[in-house]
Amino acid sequence: MNSSNSQHVLSGMRPTGKLHLGHLHGVLNNWIKLQHEYSCYFFVADWHALTTEYDNTGVISQSVWEMIIDWLAVGINPGEATLFIQSKIPEHAELHLLMSMSTPLSWLERIPTYKDQQQKLRNKDLSTYGFLGYPLLQSADILVYKAGLIPVGEDQVSHVEFTRELARRFNHIYGREANFEDKARDAIRKMGKKNAKLYKELRKNFQEQGDVEALNTAQALVETQQNISLGDKKRLLGYLEGESKTILPEPEALLTKTSKMPGLDGQKMSKSYQNTISLRESPASVEQKIRTMQTDPARIRRTDPGDPKKCPVWQFHQIYSTVEQKTWVKENCRSAGIGCIECKQPVIESILAELAPIRERTLNFIEEPESVRAIINEGCEKARDTARETLEEVRQVMGLVYR
Ligand code: TRP
Ligand code: SF4
Repeated sequence: MNSSNSQHVLSGMRPTGKLHLGHLHGVLNNWIKLQHEYSCYFFVADWHALTTEYDNTGVISQSVWEMIIDWLAVGINPGEATLFIQSKIPEHAELHLLMSMSTPLSWLERIPTYKDQQQKLRNKDLSTYGFLGYPLLQSADILVYKAGLIPVGEDQVSHVEFTRELARRFNHIYGREANFEDKARDAIRKMGKKNAKLYKELRKNFQEQGDVEALNTAQALVETQQNISLGDKKRLLGYLEGESKTILPEPEALLTKTSKMPGLDGQKMSKSYQNTISLRESPASVEQKIRTMQTDPARIRRTDPGDPKKCPVWQFHQIYSTVEQKTWVKENCRSAGIGCIECKQPVIESILAELAPIRERTLNFIEEPESVRAIINEGCEKARDTARETLEEVRQVMGLVYR
């Protein structure tokens, strides 16, 4: 995953408990799609989990393999995506430390998740150095692979934006060299007449008019050059935007419209609301949880009409049901034509049908811990090769190679 990175996707997930339908519909189904389209790196963010669970590390160690098995069971394919564990790649920590030296405190303090999480998780002591550095560690995760596309939820976009600012700052500080401009001009010439002309035009359009599409086109043009050295490519990329080499490229957030999975109470499905159905929930428990779900409070008796808009079961129908089923619900809820138990039955069946094959594959993987370990070992090795290369380069531009 070096130099050309725009097609590389990277994302992590914290191992802080059982995976549930919210993870499946909000994140994993999207990963499954992405793995066919891009070269994907998915990892277990166990160090990130430590920021909130440092006094409760048992949850982490218990969740790591469970989570990996759940990923595999839902269809994350190790033949397509590279799967690994963050703490097995010490280069994440080294880059985090090196970047911490030049990261302004105020940048960290003003990231919205910092105060939001402290308010939300009042029962945890989050006034730690590690927690303040959470987004910086995330930046290191991304930049150590020079990943171009980061699938994240709305709440994490600010972390990707922060990563972009850090990369820019890093390149500005450490990507400078004597006679940069001369060297960049030489590099342009080496592209050949036609490409040189195109490059200059695109650069001008971006610099004078802020034309981002021109910038993207120019970056793609540079990345596809065959006879240009790596150093010159970095100059050409850097010269598009400024006066320094691009050592660490800026990633982009890949915001995907995922269906928000409601919880049993109608709020977002989340462990902290205790409204989840886990990916390993037994069929009996799924049935029990849906059957006892709250419905429109106006439907006290079977003969009272209801309004789907006031009922969390309706939100489940929106995820799972066909158009015909939804029409059936709407009409018969409002006319009291069906009872709530009847209305819930198709939801129960859909969830059971969704979870059955997942459960079967989960059991298979649980019986083969060696093959799961082998998948992760292989992923870690592949990830580490890339991370090592980046760190060698980073140490070098920072002047930390002593020979
Ligand atoms: N912070 C992310 C979350 O809570 C997890 C994460 C850690 C991550 N490192 C990352 C996501 C790097 C994307 C890229 O969901
Ligand atoms: Fe909710 Fe269905 Fe009952 Fe209407 S009939 S209140 S949509 S469970």
